[in-house]
Amino acid sequence: MANPLISKHILLGVTGSIAAYKAAELASKLYQSDVEVYVMLTEAAQKFISPLTFQTVTDKKAYTESDLWGREGHVVHVHIGRQAELMIIAPATANTIAKLAYGIADNLLTLTTLAVNCPILIAPAMDVGMYSHSATQENISVLEKRGVQFIGPLEGHLASGLEGIGRMVEPSVILQQARWMLAQDGLLKGKKIVITAGGTQESIDPVRILTNRSSGKQGYAVAQAALDAGAQVMLINPSSHLIPPTGAKTIRADTAADMYHAVLNEINDADALIMAAAVSDFRPKKMKSQKIKKENGYNQIQLEQTEDILVKAAEVKQKSNPKLILVGFAAESQDLIANARKKMKAKHLDLMAVNDITQPDAGFASDTNRITLLFANGKSESLPLMPKIEVAEKIIAYLIEALINK
Ligand code: CTP
Repeated sequence: MANPLISKHILLGVTGSIAAYKAAELASKLYQSDVEVYVMLTEAAQKFISPLTFQTVTDKKAYTESDLWGREGHVVHVHIGRQAELMIIAPATANTIAKLAYGIADNLLTLTTLAVNCPILIAPAMDVGMYSHSATQENISVLEKRGVQFIGPLEGHLASGLEGIGRMVEPSVILQQARWMLAQDGLLKGKKIVITAGGTQESIDPVRILTNRSSGKQGYAVAQAALDAGAQVMLINPSSHLIPPTGAKTIRADTAADMYHAVLNEINDADALIMAAAVSDFRPKKMKSQKIKKENGYNQIQLEQTEDILVKAAEVKQKSNPKLILVGFAAESQDLIANARKKMKAKHLDLMAVNDITQPDAGFASDTNRITLLFANGKSESLPLMPKIEVAEKIIAYLIEALINK
């Protein structure tokens, strides 16, 4: 499954707010994601930004009011509207939102919004008073009832000099939302996938922890690939430094025990569990309640074994959820395949992704990975070095095969 933005036709409507300058960044990001971007500006938008800016970043003519009355005349909106697979209005003013709520079609953009037959995403931007006004709030709820999606606005500094709600969300956030909206009808629609990511942390005392080098990047990439295929994703993520992909539900689980409980709570109705997390195998038997002081001398930490989550998940699969597909990761530094096969058998896995952590370009913090996939039927597939998102797409392709095309 590839990024659902690729080759999609997206119509970006820009209205008259100072945040219009951010729309140029959004148009550029969409273009760089291989989207066919069509931009349409209202007259007021052109007071803030020129069509030439959009034309330059999208490599396409940007449509303005004059196109409504130009040579192609009335068909422009119908033509572009029909092609669009998603319409984004960013920034959207209180005025445009009001017109859309009432179905007013008095300019090229509002006319086209009536003509489109695709999901609509609106990112409002306006002053705090205008946004909070009951007229605007009622208009937004009318549009929401019709299925229009809103993103933002955010609290913060406003162009008026006031502080409050009204700032347009960042272009990168709108881009992620668009990616998620376009994935909704993917092959894994309706399938629930539980994914763990990152390393766990076991407390020694209030200051110190036992942890490992896992960055969480591979697990987050698997979550993104599953969302791209339309799945419902529950990401159990001990790491707080990565931003979860848009659309994923998340549960924070710092320790192996927290993760164990979170996974068991989620897998009863799940279709797959992908354990990309590096779960600590041991934890201190007792956490010291006070910081250990060096003058007292301390040279031993007694450890006990943690629960093996995959082994327990295999029991759940056997007892109550036979459809559950189990995917494990094995980070090995020697006898890769033999060690991984042993684990795969012990944990009753359907698929295991093995990587050699001694390789500099395929280790924990890297953006690339070199993986061998081991299948339950004894077959295997060695993948070349590739970005972690592509490794993730391979795993999701396997799930599609196993869940849909079985
Ligand atoms: N795993 C798990 N529960 C644990 C430890 C690991 O579910 N307590 C999962 C990991 O998320 C991974 C797979 O088991 O998907 C293999 O993890 P790995 O650390 O390679 O293997 P271990 O079984 O822990 O064996 P060892 O550390 O001795 O190599």
